Amino acid sequence: MRETKITVRPNGPLRVEGDFTICDPEGNAFDLAGRTAISLCRCGQSQDKPFCDGSHKRVGFESVVKARQLAALPAPKPLPAS
Ligand code: FES
Repeated sequence: MRETKITVRPNGPLRVEGDFTICDPEGNAFDLAGRTAISLCRCGQSQDKPFCDGSHKRVGFESVVKARQLAALPAPKPLPAS
């Protein structure tokens, strides 16, 4: 199994490469017709969501991010007394 890599493209989509499945909220997988890489819309303007259709360029979407360390996960909540 290949590692899945997700790249946040400057001013553009999330590029997903490797082994992955994209599902709708009911768990049904999209038929990606053999694609091993795909771009997911990050700007919210695609007419083909969740996939990028290039609309980010037309609307001038701007978002450049650098990798960073996230805050620690919150401690698990204690179970309610029974
Ligand atoms: S990121 Fe490309 S259309 Fe939204």
